[in-house]
Amino acid sequence: MDRRIPTNMDIRVSKTSPVDWTGEALALGLFEGETELSGELADLDARLQGVLSELIAEEKFEGKADSLATTRIGGNSPVRKLLAVGLGKAEDLQPNTLRSAAAAIARSAKAMKVKTLAISLPVAGDDLFHSVQAIAEGAILALHRDARFKSEDKEAENQIEILELLGFEGQEAAITRAEQLCSGTILARELVAAPANSATPIALAAIAAEIAAEYGLEAEILDGEACEKLGMGAFLGVAQASEIPPRFIHLTYKPTGTPKRKVAIVGKGLTFDSGGLNIKGAGSGIETMKMDMGGGAATLGAAKAIAQLKPEVEVHFISAVTENMISGRAMHPGDILTASNGKTIEVNNTDAEGRLTLADALVFAEKLGVEAIVDLATLTGACVVALGDNIGGLWSTHEELAAEIKAAAALAGEKFWQMPLEEKYFEGLKSPIADMKNTGPRAGGSITAALFLKQFVKETPWVHLDIAGPVWADRASGVNNEGATGFPVRTLVNWVLNCGA
Ligand code: BES
Ligand code: MG
Ligand code: ZN
Repeated sequence: MDRRIPTNMDIRVSKTSPVDWTGEALALGLFEGETELSGELADLDARLQGVLSELIAEEKFEGKADSLATTRIGGNSPVRKLLAVGLGKAEDLQPNTLRSAAAAIARSAKAMKVKTLAISLPVAGDDLFHSVQAIAEGAILALHRDARFKSEDKEAENQIEILELLGFEGQEAAITRAEQLCSGTILARELVAAPANSATPIALAAIAAEIAAEYGLEAEILDGEACEKLGMGAFLGVAQASEIPPRFIHLTYKPTGTPKRKVAIVGKGLTFDSGGLNIKGAGSGIETMKMDMGGGAATLGAAKAIAQLKPEVEVHFISAVTENMISGRAMHPGDILTASNGKTIEVNNTDAEGRLTLADALVFAEKLGVEAIVDLATLTGACVVALGDNIGGLWSTHEELAAEIKAAAALAGEKFWQMPLEEKYFEGLKSPIADMKNTGPRAGGSITAALFLKQFVKETPWVHLDIAGPVWADRASGVNNEGATGFPVRTLVNWVLNCGA
């Protein structure tokens, strides 16, 4: 599968002030309540013969966050196109505001057919590095487009070629960091967007092996037989109806020195979820279920970024990859499976398959002797009902680890909300015949799913992320374009970078 990054924009930093910059398009950030121009902005307005103040007046531009006003300038102006983006209140400025602002600018400049763009944005607080990183990320991610499945790439000509970040001389390292993080996010987006007849378990395993070879990771790819030897009855129960054999992916990043920490990232890898014999009906969104490997895709995306960033942390990247299909060999509703930790599961609903595959993946991860496990999964529709499309659910047995993930997510501009691991609800998973059922009552469905997973982690600090909502966006917003978002690659990478510090 072709996985090229279609934006090959050259991002530069310079010490040029917007007042002196000459070129095609200039984008400026303005704070709310600061549209009376003074200082540098007044000088720029004078140089542009009042076009900036006119734009503000005509568009009734108030500098509100996410607002944007643009104009073309005729004559012999040193700047041909001007973009003003609102930053909201100065005291609320965060790197994440800058990320969204840069995304809005980049999208608009592209629509204006701009080739050379300069952006002038302020620093959030005193965090120069993360501010520059966020601006570059916003632009790269908003401009990423995916023409792999089009017979003709109609937009190939219409690309921003040079992006200059004004006033950020010497910040090349922040740009490199952004490019590495984005390469992982874009890989995850492209894997999620690829349909189930392209991103098969075999194809995902091949891509994982490719990433490993290219970036120097260890790769262990297990076929069904090897999984059987490890007793992975839960994973293999899900896989047994598919014509395409399953693959268990395990990549390892090892730093050159002694690792400061050893952790595992485990992603749900359902390349298609039909529901199995409890088949998804009309209106269930079955046609969107190619995205059910969003956790595995983000795991590989994180692997790609981390292998480039080289933190002092040993990281294991794990995904049990399969389809959930129907056939004469399919699991019957009511079948009892035995997972690799010996626990037995009555499958009262074959559509609750993700937790079955994760059960064996979590047992595998814990056996590696890691100090923390983070799993991520498009696990439940119930989580989407609870938190909507933009916010992932977070459950944890370990408050410190949960706090680390929340901090990493805040820096990434990716939203999570912590949900309770309410032990009493496990009663809903009690089975008269096996150790547990795989499905509880409708109420609290994302919580019982988390409680199910908890049965497969003995004592390692663990965080579970339900990302069923945010892996996909129905329309462009912030850094996300319509379609796959690459959520939560940036959270995972930030966490690994910080957790060894
Ligand atoms: N892959 C789905 C969850 C999902 C739903 C992801 C919507 C993205 C969007 C999962 O395997 C599933 O089918 N879950 C069931 C669980 C139920 C049978 C207990 C669900 O959420 O309905
Ligand atoms: Mg399902
Ligand atoms: Zn699923």
